[in-house]
Amino acid sequence: MKTLVIFYSFSGNTRAISQELAEKESFGIAEIKDAKGFGKLKAYTLGCFASIRGKPWPVQPLGIVFSEYGRLVLLAPVWASNPPPAVNAFLELLPPSKDVAVKMVSASGRSGCRARIESAIESKGCALESFEDIQAPKRRFSAINAVEP
Ligand SMILES: Cc1cc2nc3c(=O)[nH]c(=O)nc-3n(C[C@H](O)[C@H](O)[C@H](O)COP(=O)(O)O)c2cc1C
Repeated sequence: MKTLVIFYSFSGNTRAISQELAEKESFGIAEIKDAKGFGKLKAYTLGCFASIRGKPWPVQPLGIVFSEYGRLVLLAPVWASNPPPAVNAFLELLPPSKDVAVKMVSASGRSGCRARIESAIESKGCALESFEDIQAPKRRFSAINAVEP
């Protein structure tokens, strides 16, 4: 059964973890992309509001041939203890009969959204294979705060 790594990333952590996993295991990889770009202000206001309410927002067409894959590994950052709205949009598009392993990437290493994700996956006729919380590696050097620690 072929595996596809599918991820969403706002600031790059989940992208790096996803790329490493796909490369190491020789899995396919695809990205969930917001329909329109936005900054931190929108992420922390409208984004968190939608996340808490379990709402989607528009994403670009996925361009994935799902029939090629029986197993998906979904990686997503945690927003306000929940999946971001772009990931909610993906969950709504999930085709049936897939085994889905979920890895939530956060600053704290705690998400508290397993039940919500499991229910979204099962409502699409898929099965939650596993659920893992990953603490994002702390960045030693940030481009925004460009001073060596
Ligand atoms: C809008 C927003 C909300 C966040 N909410 C949480 C949170 O509730 N708990 C947490 O541990 N981290 C939270 N974070 C931190 C991210 O989950 C963490 O930095 C993650 O690694 C980001 O992944 P990315 O770089 O792939 O976007 C939040 C980040 C953003 C941008």
